[in-house]
Amino acid sequence: MCGIVGYVGDSKSIEVLLGGLRRQEYRGYDSAGIAVIDVDGHLDSRKKAGKLQALVDELESNPIADGATGIGHTRWATHGGPTDRNAHPQLGDNGKLALIHNGIIENFFELKEELLAEGAVFTSDTDSEVAALLVGKAYQETKDVTEALRQVVARLHGAFTLLVVHEDQPGVVVGARRNSPLVIGLGDGENFLGSDVAAFVEHTRRAVEIGQDQIATIRTDSVSVTDFDGNPVETKEYEINWDASAAEKGGWSSFMAKEISEEPEAVAKTLLGRVVAESVRLPELDGIGDEILENIDRIVIIACGTAAYAGMLGKYAIEKWSRIPVDVELSHEFRYRDPILTERTLVVSISQSGETMDTLMAVKYAKEAGAQVLSICNTQGSSIPRESHAVLYTHAGPEVAVASTKAFLAQVTALYLLGLHLGRVRSTINPDEIAAAAAELNDIPEKIAEVLLSAASIKQLAHWMTDTKSVLFLGRNVGFPVALEGALKLKELAYIHAEGFAAGELKHGPIALIEPGQIVFVIVPSPRDPLSLHPKVVSNIQEIRARGARVIAIAEKGDAAVLPFADEVIPIPLAGSLFEPLLAVVPLHIFAMELSAAKGLDVDQPRNLAKSVTVE
Ligand code: G6P
Repeated sequence: MCGIVGYVGDSKSIEVLLGGLRRQEYRGYDSAGIAVIDVDGHLDSRKKAGKLQALVDELESNPIADGATGIGHTRWATHGGPTDRNAHPQLGDNGKLALIHNGIIENFFELKEELLAEGAVFTSDTDSEVAALLVGKAYQETKDVTEALRQVVARLHGAFTLLVVHEDQPGVVVGARRNSPLVIGLGDGENFLGSDVAAFVEHTRRAVEIGQDQIATIRTDSVSVTDFDGNPVETKEYEINWDASAAEKGGWSSFMAKEISEEPEAVAKTLLGRVVAESVRLPELDGIGDEILENIDRIVIIACGTAAYAGMLGKYAIEKWSRIPVDVELSHEFRYRDPILTERTLVVSISQSGETMDTLMAVKYAKEAGAQVLSICNTQGSSIPRESHAVLYTHAGPEVAVASTKAFLAQVTALYLLGLHLGRVRSTINPDEIAAAAAELNDIPEKIAEVLLSAASIKQLAHWMTDTKSVLFLGRNVGFPVALEGALKLKELAYIHAEGFAAGELKHGPIALIEPGQIVFVIVPSPRDPLSLHPKVVSNIQEIRARGARVIAIAEKGDAAVLPFADEVIPIPLAGSLFEPLLAVVPLHIFAMELSAAKGLDVDQPRNLAKSVTVE
């Protein structure tokens, strides 16, 4: 939540800041603002409620002088509504200092009371303004932004990334982080700060991680990082493994359209180098070690949103191949109920962004409780991998649309690889079975590409349904998480009430919802399914059809048994039962996107959401 960018270089701050905000707008789009210290050393700022374009328009009608130092912010509102006055930057030291903030300052109320008692005047309802006024006050004594910020962060509780500039120190941007993301970009005669590397990837691919409770000071020719006590810390530079064009729409109508088109590639890249000689090797797990993996007696998968549904699919595969019991839990529920964890528990966190606060906190908790922690993550250098014993990166490439699509496919792929790796290490699956599963996985990208060819007919279906008020999704076994994911996407993107149910649960309640015209998507298992679930799901279809439901079946190509009972059939290529979800989910992603577009909604930036939820 909230995107942050900071810059020191030459006199093109405005362009750099707006570019950084544009690439981070997925983190929040309730308001945007920038502050710049111009060439004469004067600080000026503009901020506007609404999407970034509102700020751009404001800067056109009410320009500010450019300069070599600046900070920018795109907001997801927490304290104080999404208004101009609550937008960032917030000012301190009589307008000479500007501050931007991502996170929540939990003790802001006490601090505000203290400032009010001293006669401070507040111009916003934000917790962030408290920090701006405090840093301004500290600056008057220290005459140094870094030192002033250091004094203030020692008093703050909660999660925050703060960036500060002061007009008396042009050429300096100072950032501090606790439990919210911040990364440095190293340029040539210029340096950057960002919530993530997207903030500066168009200028440099050299990045430096900043750890928890650290302060970074950037100037044109230097970067220094200390802990909150002022002790210098060692930093690690890394190269960003994608370029700016990967985070551009590239001619697609939306980022989501582009990202769905990249689903085959997301799976292929996640498999790359991990399926070797018909077996699965995950050297990334060396940090945990085979001996520990052999002794693990339970796996707990923690994640939020779409990632949690990927986790549910992982449970089927990991249990089948490794015979280790797997629980899947929402990170925020896991963390607060005193979960039972031992050194023989492997906690697997899943997060596209690597910054989801609920998951980050759950990871830290699990580690402190003595569990082994493996993270499955799509974002290099992000917080969750850094807190884990080992990390298995998905290689889906940057995902910009707020609702996750290609990352989901990559997460499921990574979990399946993990299941095969564990099965091999623990000898619960024989080499032939591993080779067969690996071959299935290798075929998935091509099969997804085949599903993408039906996009036009799914679009048509979506166009017929723009007035639909409610959609149900049914699936059984591995089809159940797919149903949940289909429903979530529709809620997120098209603002339609949608529910996913286990098909077997239908008669235990949800069937009461069926009335004439109710649209129900059904994920139909293959007729070749060894568990013989196909006839059961076909019976479920008949039961709801008998009560007037309109059925859209996602079924294996050539499944003749479904045809007589479904109003529409979306065919998917043949695949082994466990692998079908990787195909069946694709039409649901397309459907939700197309329905959202047909309703004239913003596919990439749905209302009230943010991609990276960095507050609890
Ligand atoms: C937000 C996004 C979802 C995403 C979830 C988890 O709610 O809107 O699309 O699935 O966060 O995000 P993560 O980055 O941890 O995978």
